[in-house]
Amino acid sequence: MIGKLNHIAIAVPDLKIAAERYRNFLGAKVSGPKDEPEHGVTVVFVELENTKIELLHPLGEKSPIQEFLKKNPKGGMHHVCYEVDDIFVASKKLKDQGARILGNGEPIIGAHGKPVVFLHPKDFFGTLIELEQR
Ligand code: CO
Repeated sequence: MIGKLNHIAIAVPDLKIAAERYRNFLGAKVSGPKDEPEHGVTVVFVELENTKIELLHPLGEKSPIQEFLKKNPKGGMHHVCYEVDDIFVASKKLKDQGARILGNGEPIIGAHGKPVVFLHPKDFFGTLIELEQR
């Protein structure tokens, strides 16, 4: 069921410092900041050969990243995103086995314009998992 690693998302308290750190310390290819108001985040993409890292910073008061940064003021890994062939088949299989899908349990349109679901971190050893339709 599980396919490629699509991205790893890291919440950061200062996007500019984080982008410069990846660019200068690690020599990474780093995008400019992109506001995604409907998801309450500003994102910088770090392009790697086999996947990407998304540096997330809260945008707006109701940002889901705000609370995370309150608990992790220095930043931290927020989620990992795996691709699946069929998000509806994948969600049903997970629910049938007792895994919890966040929100109303149905796929939503994610930050890349594709349907996604988020799986409860308590079911996956403390890691928030995003599944994205390939
Ligand atoms: Co994501």
